Amino acid sequence: MTGNLYLTGFSGSGKTSVGKVLAQRLKAEFVDLDHAIPNRAGTDLATFFAEEGEQAFRTLELDYVSELAADVKSGKPGKVVALGGGTLMNPATQEHVESSGVLVWLRAKWSSLFERLLCCDDRPLLQKAEKLHEFISYNRPFYEGRLPGYAHCDLVLDVDNMTPADTATAITRIMDCSWHLTVRFFERTHSVLCDSGLLARTGQMLYQLGILPRGQVWLITTGNLDDDKLPLAKIVKEDLESTRQEVRVLRIPDGEAAKTIEQVTRIHNAMLGAGTTRDDLVIALGGGTVGDAAGFAAATYMRGIDIVHIPTTLVGMIDAALGGKTAINHPKGKNLIGAYHQPKAILIDPVVLNTSADEYYLAGLAELVKYGCISDISIIEECEANWKDILNRPKWEEKWTRDGWGQLEGNPWSLIPLMKKGLAIKSRLVSADEREVTGERTLLNFGHTFAHAFEAASDFKIPHGQAVALGIRAAFKIGLKRKTVTVEDVTRIDNLLGDLAPVDLIAGLDGERILEAIKLDKKRSKDGINFLLPKGLGEVEIFTDVTVDEMKEALVALREQ
Ligand SMILES: NC(=O)c1ccc[n+]([C@@H]2O[C@H](COP(=O)([O-])OP(=O)(O)OC[C@H]3O[C@@H](n4cnc5c(N)ncnc54)[C@H](O)[C@@H]3O)[C@@H](O)[C@H]2O)c1
Repeated sequence: MTGNLYLTGFSGSGKTSVGKVLAQRLKAEFVDLDHAIPNRAGTDLATFFAEEGEQAFRTLELDYVSELAADVKSGKPGKVVALGGGTLMNPATQEHVESSGVLVWLRAKWSSLFERLLCCDDRPLLQKAEKLHEFISYNRPFYEGRLPGYAHCDLVLDVDNMTPADTATAITRIMDCSWHLTVRFFERTHSVLCDSGLLARTGQMLYQLGILPRGQVWLITTGNLDDDKLPLAKIVKEDLESTRQEVRVLRIPDGEAAKTIEQVTRIHNAMLGAGTTRDDLVIALGGGTVGDAAGFAAATYMRGIDIVHIPTTLVGMIDAALGGKTAINHPKGKNLIGAYHQPKAILIDPVVLNTSADEYYLAGLAELVKYGCISDISIIEECEANWKDILNRPKWEEKWTRDGWGQLEGNPWSLIPLMKKGLAIKSRLVSADEREVTGERTLLNFGHTFAHAFEAASDFKIPHGQAVALGIRAAFKIGLKRKTVTVEDVTRIDNLLGDLAPVDLIAGLDGERILEAIKLDKKRSKDGINFLLPKGLGEVEIFTDVTVDEMKEALVALREQ
């Protein structure tokens, strides 16, 4: 093990017992800070706190953790470290942790912590309830103080129903995935896991994340992902059932037809009919439309039931599933009715991209290049270096059964690490601005002003993803005029995006209609339109003074290519 593996969580979450099992399995040294620090001072934790006070403990703790971090940097083997309850409250200590390994948050509900810590006797139920209430009232302020520290974790596991051995297995299995990413929302912090063959391990993975309920699982999908030709739903269902889970499959219509109030009512009716409670779980298996419709149904069922997204298109994987936005359409417009509802987890199996149609695949790539433009030039560089490999999706030998699927080995496809880079950007922006209030999330709309206008002016014949690709190119043309980007920058973006959406797509569109659509968009916002323009590659900035003439010129320049 190269870095340290740090375990955090509230008292009773199992840091010490999980840490011991993990250290044994990984053949690593185990350090329990709550013992190691007082030991060094020749005493025990209670005596140390009573005699020296918490501040003295935090100072020694900082020294200790900085030594652990220095050991990693000097090349010593990594250790498994159970952190103290308040370790992460000191920013300096937290930085040492962050810079020297992986931080795992063992998250548990109050009722589980109470059971583990206090309630091991045979009290009657009423007395237990009173005691639980007292327990929560006493501990809540400590917990809330520690929450910002936990939110720095690289991995979160819900350990309520897990033994220490289960939790240790879960941590090692997750580390073995192609990659994992943590989307940080304090208590709603959740994981994105990506691995080839993951679909056939859905049940096991959700069990290991501690997400599987004791009750029902609703698997919401579409008919074309649940037939003999492409039995994705069957593979997921079989694996869930192998964990003795009760699974009900509900098919909704394909594409935008899923995003209606009637379909949401259908989902609600089915769940009410089956006696589904808030402790049960919804899994959305499909493209962004399934995620949006099932997500909205989950957000509104009994004021919110847990959902896991298993996106099966590239747009779903690198965009729609992450961020908590759910929506259905209204006769007056797209996505007008919706809610923010963060998932419990997102599972990505890149193998399913095999069968997704080109249109949706290219749309996902346009979003990927967009992430590069707004925040990470290395995405653009890596796309350039591997574009051929990325455009030509690998064809896995068809293994459309759970057994065959489960044997799919990790694969070196260059798109896989880039998906993580893109999602890391979205994750950072949405964590900072979950409900689109402070503005960070606006950056994700780069290229969308022109894109919406291209879609509207073509009566929605141009697919959204391709419209975004062309919209980004148009924004670069304005940037070139304003000298915020160079000719070389524009050429590089044109070269990538030209492969996704040829300019011919907008050749026949009425220029005036495009500009009218942009102006209409402009009227919708009180403070004028937020027009995002590139500043070199890897950065964008909001401008509010972009004129109609500049847009016209950009359009002409784009069409003349
Ligand atoms: N919530 C958000 O933040 C967010 C973000 C972006 C997009 N969206 C929404 O997502 C939707 C677009 O999503 P999309 O592009 O995934 O389209 P989609 O969900 O309509 O899926 C496209 C088509 O591909 C099929 N399909 C899905 N996976 C497949 C697979 N592995 N193999 C073969 N066929 C497969 C679907 O059945 C469908 O016919 C839009 O409604 C958009 O509003 C939401």
